[in-house]
Amino acid sequence: MDTLTLKVQEIEQLTSSIKKFVFQAPNAADLPSFSAGAHIDLQLENGLIKSYSLANDPSETNRYVTAILREADGAGGSIYMHDEVSVGDELTATPPQNSFEISDDASQHIFLAGGIGITPLLAMGYTLVAKGKDCHLHYCSKSVEETAFMDEVKALFGDNHTFYHDGGNPANGIDLTETFSAQPDGAHVYICGPAGLLNAAREATSHWRDGSVHFELFSSAKTEEEKAADAAQAEGDGAFEIELAQSGKTLTVPADKSILQVLWDNDIEVLHACEEGWCGNCVVDYLSGGVDHRDEVLDDTDRETKIQVCISRALPGEKIVLDL
Ligand code: FES
Repeated sequence: MDTLTLKVQEIEQLTSSIKKFVFQAPNAADLPSFSAGAHIDLQLENGLIKSYSLANDPSETNRYVTAILREADGAGGSIYMHDEVSVGDELTATPPQNSFEISDDASQHIFLAGGIGITPLLAMGYTLVAKGKDCHLHYCSKSVEETAFMDEVKALFGDNHTFYHDGGNPANGIDLTETFSAQPDGAHVYICGPAGLLNAAREATSHWRDGSVHFELFSSAKTEEEKAADAAQAEGDGAFEIELAQSGKTLTVPADKSILQVLWDNDIEVLHACEEGWCGNCVVDYLSGGVDHRDEVLDDTDRETKIQVCISRALPGEKIVLDL
């Protein structure tokens, strides 16, 4: 898998818990281009691989900007970035990937950001405002002080933004049912934020047309009960076969391994980060076979041809043919 070396050019404390990071190539050369909604995966020295959405204008060719929320009870990636990384450090990253694209089918674009979820939506704003497209940002945060990129949002979106500060109680924030009660003609919504907001927004837009609600997860949106049910389901997993269409090889995926792990065992690299089915990185096209989709990112249309190989498995008695 190709990787990039990124040098930390600037770090700025945006709020008490959010830092902005600006990366350049070590020689300040152009970086691989990206489209709005894209992310990079940073390979951290503590062994973690973490995905971070790019927030800057995709027309910029020589820098990537992201912002990271310090999560004290997270896996450690954000703590490492906040506490260990300094200006001038070099990090290894994958080139930008995009699983949260702007829809070409939309004539109106509505953004819903919760906290750090503003990052990909800011990049989308740059792209759409430059094209004179109809867009509006709903941006939810705890307070003015805890709102990252506030001035940038005001300058970019002009009148086409609404801030909501709930003081830490979602009941005092945006009324999602009201906001999304009717779907304007041609409108698509893009949602990025914490699980609570995301689940509530998906519920509030459940009557919107298929394919018009897009979301990006920064963590699993599953409840503890759903996670317990997943664990119980995994107890009953069996072995199955995958076929790699390009080499004709057939591999067995044992009950206690994922497809991703079996691919690694056979020196086949697939992009990955969360290994829990919510980040979208490990998506692979498949050509045939019954798939037991267990991810949180693919919609029904995607699932006809795509599989998240870190978590999904074959249905009983099925063999999956991957386009690898
Ligand atoms: S690695 Fe995140 S969905 Fe598979």
